[in-house]
Amino acid sequence: MTKIITIDGPSGSGKGSVSRLLAKKLGFSYLDSGALYRLLSIAASRHKVASSNQKGLKSLAEHMDICFESDVTGGLRALLEGEDVTLEMRTENTGERASKIAGHSEVRAALLKRQRLFAKGDGLVADGRDMGTVIFPTAHLKIYMTASIEERASRRYKELLAKGEDVSLRALAEQVRARDERDMNRVVSPLVPAEDAIELDTSNLSIKEVLETILGILDFKRF
Ligand code: DC
Repeated sequence: MTKIITIDGPSGSGKGSVSRLLAKKLGFSYLDSGALYRLLSIAASRHKVASSNQKGLKSLAEHMDICFESDVTGGLRALLEGEDVTLEMRTENTGERASKIAGHSEVRAALLKRQRLFAKGDGLVADGRDMGTVIFPTAHLKIYMTASIEERASRRYKELLAKGEDVSLRALAEQVRARDERDMNRVVSPLVPAEDAIELDTSNLSIKEVLETILGILDFKRF
């Protein structure tokens, strides 16, 4: 049986980095479910399908030709219709549109099937918003990762500065707040902790400390 660990939480909580490292450490596969929504967001823009066109987006979600590969640093490389869209996938624009698109129930249903296909082999670490509540409700371990809005905005600020982008910390904090609002208050699969999730506030923890905490929980559970 494939062992499943879900790590849900808002953007900037650190779930992506921690999930990738955890999967590597355990020799498990990794699902970055946000990347699926982000690729759909890019596909919609390429094929001129509006964020309000639920039927068109559903069809794109079912048929889009996507592929994930590990790059040399262990990061995730994403291909859409054979084109490397890794950088475009991480822009604020793509994320904003992904968050809007993610509110459509038919889009979520189409992506649900694609996400469950990642559960094979020894184990899977799945990160996103509804991994523990909807996609893998019987997961063996569910973590809900949070951090304060200020800390999440500041992490994003440093990331963008390192990439040479000129951004305002205040504007970023506003974007983080708006994205939380949309992801947590949508009607279908809103971002909420699963009842059986362990909540982890990472505001004052480094990625290494979060990883060690989760490994400690796995030890305790004799996972
Ligand atoms: O985790 P992320 O920032 O890459 O996700 C981008 C958007 O995709 C996020 O704002 C909401 C949506 N999303 C979702 O609705 N459900 C998921 N499981 C993952 C992402």
